[in-house]
Amino acid sequence: MRTLNIIGSGRVGRACGRLWTRAGVFRIGDVLTRSRASASEAVRFIGAGRAVGGLDEMCDADVWMIATRDDVIVASCEALAAAGKITPDDIVFHVSGATPSTALAAAAARGALTASVHPIKTFPDAELAVQRFPGTYCGAEGNPEALRVLGAAFEAIGATVFGIAVASKPIYHAGGVFACNYLAALVETALRAHEKAGIPRAASLKALEPLVRETVDAIFEHGPARALTGPIARGDCATVGNQLAAIEGWDAALAALYRGLGLVAVDLAARDGRLDDRRAAALRDALGQQQPVRPRSDFGAR
Ligand SMILES: NC(=O)c1ccc[n+]([C@@H]2O[C@H](COP(=O)([O-])OP(=O)(O)OC[C@H]3O[C@@H](n4cnc5c(N)ncnc54)[C@H](OP(=O)(O)O)[C@@H]3O)[C@@H](O)[C@H]2O)c1
Repeated sequence: MRTLNIIGSGRVGRACGRLWTRAGVFRIGDVLTRSRASASEAVRFIGAGRAVGGLDEMCDADVWMIATRDDVIVASCEALAAAGKITPDDIVFHVSGATPSTALAAAAARGALTASVHPIKTFPDAELAVQRFPGTYCGAEGNPEALRVLGAAFEAIGATVFGIAVASKPIYHAGGVFACNYLAALVETALRAHEKAGIPRAASLKALEPLVRETVDAIFEHGPARALTGPIARGDCATVGNQLAAIEGWDAALAALYRGLGLVAVDLAARDGRLDDRRAAALRDALGQQQPVRPRSDFGAR
């Protein structure tokens, strides 16, 4: 069994460490974080390994996981390389979706096989992530031999691993940010709108719950186009224009958000054949306008 050392063992490092230990995929060696105390907590959570207080205390390993915050991956890897801990053909990988595996250049320069495997998953806490990890998709790129080993390791704990182009990583990761982080931001935006309309947040959250859940279910059952309902899907330019004007008068930043998302919704409805070219163009116009739009007669339009 290969030995895995972990540098940075918060939510992702701990969850993966425990999953690999239980599945008998890796033998966990040394665990390093910013303090010996948190490394000890991580080792307790993982149920294996040895907490260390510095790189100098770390023993050899076949595989090195760097699961620090993104902005210290390069520095952590450079410190690891400078400490002389890497031997040729060691595998060094990180789990960031936004960072390319080339951030591990210092390890590659010492002969390591470097890669990145990014779980498309939210890890609000390690315990929950362990329970819900099976079924997670992971975007991977880097050295093919490293990916062969890491792909098997992630698949052994229930993941599906697919390849991504290194140059596409920022956009690839933005996809996850839109779907996950911005979904939370979008619901917050809806709460603010309700609050502005005089509905208390707690009541609003309750009222929005069935709407959001049904929409999410519909997206994954029928696709985003079929799940789209409301004024844009109906081609109702007057409602869209009036709504935009009201938001403009309240919060310009949220009006910009309404416009941007509205234009995506128009494309979606048009591609699905629910808006003809004339309606789609009128909606795009309405989304560009800041003044209320007067409803126009539809007679003779089609
Ligand atoms: N959270 C997610 O939903 C998610 C999903 C997919 C991928 N990821 C990726 O997973 C990686 C880790 O994220 P996370 O959410 O697990 O972060 P986290 O919970 O904040 O944990 C970060 C860990 O790194 C340690 N650390 C920070 N600076 C360090 C340094 N200079 N040297 C050694 N250890 C250091 C921290 O030490 P202390 O414990 O002492 O603070 C902590 O153990 C990131 O690359 C992130 O992009 C996260």
